[in-house]
Amino acid sequence: MDFEREIEVCLRSRFTLICIETFEEERVVDHLKSVCTQRNRTLYRWDHADHFQLLTGPAGTRPTATDAASVLEAIEAMEGEVVFVLHDFHQCWDKSPKIVRKLRNLAQRLQYTRKTMIVTAPAMEIPDELKDEVVRLEYAPPGEEQLGAIIDKLASSPGVKVNLTDEGRDRILRAALGLSSSQARRIFAKAIVVNGVLDDRDLEMITMEKKEIIRESGALQFYAPSETIADVGGLQQLKTWLGMRERAFTQEAADYGLPAPKGVALIGIPGTGKSLTAKMIASLWHLPLIRLDIGALYGSYIGQSEENARRALVLAETIAPCLMWIDEIEKGLSTGTADGGTSMRVFGTILSWMQEKTKPVFIVATANDISKLPPELLRKGRFDEIFFLDLPTTIERREIFHVHIRKRKRKPEDYDLDRLSAAADGYVGAEIEQAVIEAMYIAFNDEANAGRDFTTEDILAALAKQVPMSRSQREVVGALRQWLAEGRAQSASFREVQEAQQEFVQIQPDSE
Ligand SMILES: Nc1ncnc2c1ncn2[C@@H]1O[C@H](COP(=O)(O)OP(=O)(O)O)[C@@H](O)[C@H]1O
Ligand SMILES: [Mg+2]
Repeated sequence: MDFEREIEVCLRSRFTLICIETFEEERVVDHLKSVCTQRNRTLYRWDHADHFQLLTGPAGTRPTATDAASVLEAIEAMEGEVVFVLHDFHQCWDKSPKIVRKLRNLAQRLQYTRKTMIVTAPAMEIPDELKDEVVRLEYAPPGEEQLGAIIDKLASSPGVKVNLTDEGRDRILRAALGLSSSQARRIFAKAIVVNGVLDDRDLEMITMEKKEIIRESGALQFYAPSETIADVGGLQQLKTWLGMRERAFTQEAADYGLPAPKGVALIGIPGTGKSLTAKMIASLWHLPLIRLDIGALYGSYIGQSEENARRALVLAETIAPCLMWIDEIEKGLSTGTADGGTSMRVFGTILSWMQEKTKPVFIVATANDISKLPPELLRKGRFDEIFFLDLPTTIERREIFHVHIRKRKRKPEDYDLDRLSAAADGYVGAEIEQAVIEAMYIAFNDEANAGRDFTTEDILAALAKQVPMSRSQREVVGALRQWLAEGRAQSASFREVQEAQQEFVQIQPDSE
């Protein structure tokens, strides 16, 4: 048991202040009990509600302490080889520099004794003054082995039937990875209650329940996209790139020695199909799509946001292979100082995970505004490729009209796509879709012939009524394209960058 060995090493090395971030207090305490029993140490627990309690070791006089200062005094006074596990003690130091100082002094003095303090909390911030004294330990969610032990324990309860094949058991254990012990126990118990027995048929239910838990976690959301590659007009370069990687997550590709792709960033003007593409990749690659909402990671107490981020990322890994879609990443990462650097720390957590993740979680990040993006994000090596989605070319606009006319159940052949595409110069996909819908309203409400079918003329009229963003927000669009011209991303379309620039210059004159 790795964690227990780590604890042992810490005790033997006379570390006096250990901090463990975990939602699974009870499991950590179980490990501590086992280590302390083996090494003949006394173990006391302290929390704000029940104060000191003896967990293992000879019963002596139980110290009484209801506040942080007297806890530390009691620890100092106690004789012998003792481990003190202090739940949520960070709340005491968060508000009090005096406690921080006292804790630091005590941590130093305890080095000459055989006493150790262990602080556990779901998340905590270590004050700078304590950083030299503190050892931080990670406590991971239960692995397959521990989850198996949970099933075995359930199975030994009277009246409970477990009837799993070896393969079914493996699958169920894998499906439950990423859950905490208490969540897993609850789900297994529920599966048993529903049909009286835990067997191979419960896999689906366990998977569903896990999705539910992920949904409850707030920051991750399952998507079942219906968008296919046929719903996306243009972006041929990007489509080819994605097509080449269609089988990248198969066993075949792994056997061949291909590394799993890491991720792609889609940058560009709003309405060019970035979110659409993210959803399309999921159906193209036949992978589950989960969306990470960075905004939902932010918590109210210090350190909680990073912990939420870590948990969400671990959960995502347990679904791998999958796509993780981070939409409009710049919104979640506003680099202001107003939030005390929280968003930068959350961002750091995500970045280092991107670097270190071993599970095949493919990231699709989209951004409308690169000026708000921290430059580290787009550094070489983070993403396999960065694509820029520009204003669509003539050919692309034609394809987009084709997509949207067909989507309205009309025949694209009945429309003059060339004329439409020429008239829609400077319009993005979303605006083209809008024009088609507007044309439908025009025809539907025609005074002379209400409900008639909409025509090329109607779409042209609708286009004329709209001012495309490339004109109304020329500077924003121009700045984005400038960024592309600097060669920092690959164009998603088949077209030379210079041509794109030229076309833009042509749009400008009539935009006044
Ligand atoms: N290249 C395209 N092909 C077809 N439809 C498009 C395209 N780009 C945008 N659209 C339409 O516009 C809508 C909004 O696009 P979206 O992907 O949300 O843009 P973005 O995320 O880049 O701001 C899409 O749902 C789709 O209907
Ligand atoms: Mg979008």
